[in-house]
Amino acid sequence: PAGAPDKALAKKVTKVGVLGAGYMASQFALLFLRRLQVPVVITDLDQARVDKGVGYIHDEIQKLADKGRIGSDEANRLRALVTGTTDKADFADCDWVIEAVFEELGIKQDVFAEVEQYISPEAVLATNTSSLSVEQIGAKLKNPERLVGFHFFTPVAVMPLIEVVRTPHTDDATLSTAMVTAAKLRKNAVITADTPGFVVNRVLAKLLGEAMYAVDRGTPFSVVDEAMAPLGLPMAPSALLDLVGLKVGAHVLDTHHAAFPDRFYRSENLHELAEYGTLLEKDSKGKVKGFDKGALKIVAG
Ligand code: 3HC
Repeated sequence: PAGAPDKALAKKVTKVGVLGAGYMASQFALLFLRRLQVPVVITDLDQARVDKGVGYIHDEIQKLADKGRIGSDEANRLRALVTGTTDKADFADCDWVIEAVFEELGIKQDVFAEVEQYISPEAVLATNTSSLSVEQIGAKLKNPERLVGFHFFTPVAVMPLIEVVRTPHTDDATLSTAMVTAAKLRKNAVITADTPGFVVNRVLAKLLGEAMYAVDRGTPFSVVDEAMAPLGLPMAPSALLDLVGLKVGAHVLDTHHAAFPDRFYRSENLHELAEYGTLLEKDSKGKVKGFDKGALKIVAG
């Protein structure tokens, strides 16, 4: 893809809409609040999910205040700027709407098509998809030129990167808004091609997929971690899988495998482990004590 377009084309972001109130969505909703200091409205399938997301944001604001990172005035201001809703009509005056709903093409297409009925044709739509085609996500949009990929990494507060994904339809004003918004969030934005996994997840899917291949054939996960230690990754493969979440990790591997069956490994065991919970057993302070047993079956070959 070509380089970043002129910053002067960027549209003003005065209200942010967040579709999805899960782990990623709540983390970046907080970042938008803190760095843009504009109203943020967050929605999900039902009130319980919305409340959980808003509750997470309130808790994190409190932690920031307790650590002295923000004053009590700012904490109060941020709390007042965030609202939860189950009614997408409340997105009407958002000029930036970003989604992090379930990583399934049909769901993302429908959720955008629905919200498009309420927002201005000028509003930018951004997707936090990690492995789906951004162009396909926009297939049901009336104005696909206002859709851009905007992929965060967890933990959002500390990971410095956003992958910005331009489709063949994305116009310069949308891309420029994405780049300027990323800078306001104090992240380094790179423009990547619209190809499964973009850059980072593609490499991580390879790494974690090969780690699972070894585990599935009888190498204990503790040995995989020990073997990888000299590479100096910021996190051992097991900790990275736990951080991303085993369900999300398994889904990312599946998506890559579906796109390139000969190049990416799909681990049935990872799905079973995801049902079971987490890979790592931790003490009350979060320190790793050992590995959960899970439901590992050794795969032949
Ligand atoms: N949430 C918020 N902040 C966190 C955090 C979390 N979950 N975990 C750590 N932090 C903060 C700490 O508060 C600390 O901040 P401070 O210095 O201001 O106090 C800072 O991060 C450093 O933390 P620590 O000193 O405790 O820990 P480390 O130095 O070990 O760093 C790490 C922790 C930054 C998480 C590091 O281990 C790391 O970079 N890990 C790799 C993470 C990664 O690869 N993420 C990408 C996953 S893939 C993805 O998200 C894509 C998706 O589509 C699947």
